[in-house]
Amino acid sequence: MNDNQKIVETINLGREYQLGSELVVAVRDVSMEVHPGQFIAVVGRSGSGKTTLLNLMAGLDKATSGSVLLEGQDLAGMGEKELTEIRRHKIGFVFQSFGLLPLLSAFENVELPLRISGVRAGEREQRAREALEMVGLTRRSKHRPYELSGGEQQRVAIARAMVTRPPLLLADEPTGELDSTNARSIFGLFIEMVREQGISVVAATHDSTLLAMADEVKEMRDGVMSERAEESHRYRE
Ligand SMILES: Nc1ncnc2c1ncn2[C@@H]1O[C@H](COP(=O)(O)OP(=O)(O)OP(=O)(O)O)[C@@H](O)[C@H]1O
Ligand SMILES: [Mg+2]
Repeated sequence: MNDNQKIVETINLGREYQLGSELVVAVRDVSMEVHPGQFIAVVGRSGSGKTTLLNLMAGLDKATSGSVLLEGQDLAGMGEKELTEIRRHKIGFVFQSFGLLPLLSAFENVELPLRISGVRAGEREQRAREALEMVGLTRRSKHRPYELSGGEQQRVAIARAMVTRPPLLLADEPTGELDSTNARSIFGLFIEMVREQGISVVAATHDSTLLAMADEVKEMRDGVMSERAEESHRYRE
């Protein structure tokens, strides 16, 4: 398989933190590949390294060993400017706490990344509308975050992450603040995007009931990654 068919690849990736005299190894020797149209769930206890791994993949944190290749390009070789461009166009990021701006409507929140990228008004409007439609919130466009349920807020955050049409969506505990019905529907939305648009999703989660929906399940334990074949969708068909 050539590099064009990998959205992101980590090679012996490691991240250590020095805290006073203590060395914390947050991610240890992780090698994984993400292909177009793949939905990968990363599970693991609190402190096992999930957030660190996603941050490294997004270029929000720097590896202390090994590398991250995004569409074949090593993030380590990039300056801040280049990394910012990559984060704007290649990667969508969704957090547990939604991170919406409270004074902006759902529509304005979704449109914001396009404003930042200098997309002209007509196109902004059309793309923001499409993104809200994709997450089923057309009728909530004018609502501000506090006028939306938790599940709806997370859908807005996903629309915002996808509005720039990145090939890769990274989601860190995206269902952590949702009840199980909303959590399933967020994972359902990921599956839809993966199957219909061919994007790739890597989602960290604590919730083991969602794992059957993923193509692959990776488990983090003290920074080390292993495959949990028994749960993933791939092995259930
Ligand atoms: N900036 C930092 N400085 C020092 N240690 C850190 C830092 N960030 C994370 N760590 C440590 O690295 C390890 C992995 O943390 P990480 O946040 O990646 O875990 P996690 O799997 O996302 O946990 P959770 O499920 O609670 O979100 C933990 O032991 C944590 O204390
Ligand atoms: Mg975390």
